[in-house]
Amino acid sequence: MNTLLLSESEAGVRMQTVHGLPNLREIILHWRRQGHSIAFVPTMGNLHGGHLSLLARARELADRTVMSIFVNPIQFGRGEDYEHYPSTLAEDSRKLSANGLDLLFAPDLAQLYPGGFDTDTRVTVPELSDILCGKFRPGHFSGVATVVSKLLINVQPDVALFGEKDYQQVLVIKRMAKDLCFPVRILGMPIVREADGLAMSSRNAYLSAEERALAPVIYRTLQQSALKLRQSGAQFAQVEADGMRTLQQAGLRPEYFSIRRAEDLGEPGPGDRDLSILVAAWLGKARLIDNIRVELPAG
Ligand code: PAJ
Repeated sequence: MNTLLLSESEAGVRMQTVHGLPNLREIILHWRRQGHSIAFVPTMGNLHGGHLSLLARARELADRTVMSIFVNPIQFGRGEDYEHYPSTLAEDSRKLSANGLDLLFAPDLAQLYPGGFDTDTRVTVPELSDILCGKFRPGHFSGVATVVSKLLINVQPDVALFGEKDYQQVLVIKRMAKDLCFPVRILGMPIVREADGLAMSSRNAYLSAEERALAPVIYRTLQQSALKLRQSGAQFAQVEADGMRTLQQAGLRPEYFSIRRAEDLGEPGPGDRDLSILVAAWLGKARLIDNIRVELPAG
């Protein structure tokens, strides 16, 4: 499948694609012996500008870049979209090659789950995994933490990059890496948006044309809420309730619209100024998430 449309001279050094852990480890070891630093971007594929922004930053940060594409079954709940998650490996591979990736790791299930996935070992970050998205998707963050552990242990990067669109995920991974003493720097990167403000997401593909036209209301509502908080010091509970109502009135089905401390997603008190507003809402068949950072003025 190693789809390479660019010649070596056009693309610089040729992208390699491996499917097995032994092949991955061999290349990593070779790079390490040459003294190269490594940056890693884990993904589930169906790549868009958000993923490619992580790759662009990874290339600035290290000598060699690795991306994984793996749709991780254990982070999907029963009845979620695992079976329908878009798989576009040939197209993804072409994009990555054109964008200067060094190594694409695209394992199959047996590589990462040699013991199956019913009774296998799991990594769980307590508390942080049970709130917000974790409350509506039980087991989701344990699924994420488990697969990211497997990937980090094998890729052994100096730095791993994650998008802040999945803000809670970034905090879960940072906490996991710290608690398990992984020798890696976890970096959160800014959200990449469509021109109308909708956060780029593989799941945007589930939206009908009509739903797609509605979807920017999510970011607009976040922006309006941030403004209310900054300008008037409005009550948190009121802003949350207004946000929920605005989304419902627009025809979405919000799961939560929540103001939290940006640092640890705890409930903010009156003295907290570094905040994040986080939202998850269903629109048709798509579950969309987004967030915005809010720094309240001092005083
Ligand atoms: P996936 O949804 O494919 O996202 C891969 C990475 O791209 C994540 O770090 C995600 O936050 C980032 N990303 C997605 N949309 C973005 C956007 N609009 N702007 C910036 N970054 C964006 O997240 C996962 O996969 C999985 O949970 C994974 C970490 C790979 C574990 O299976």
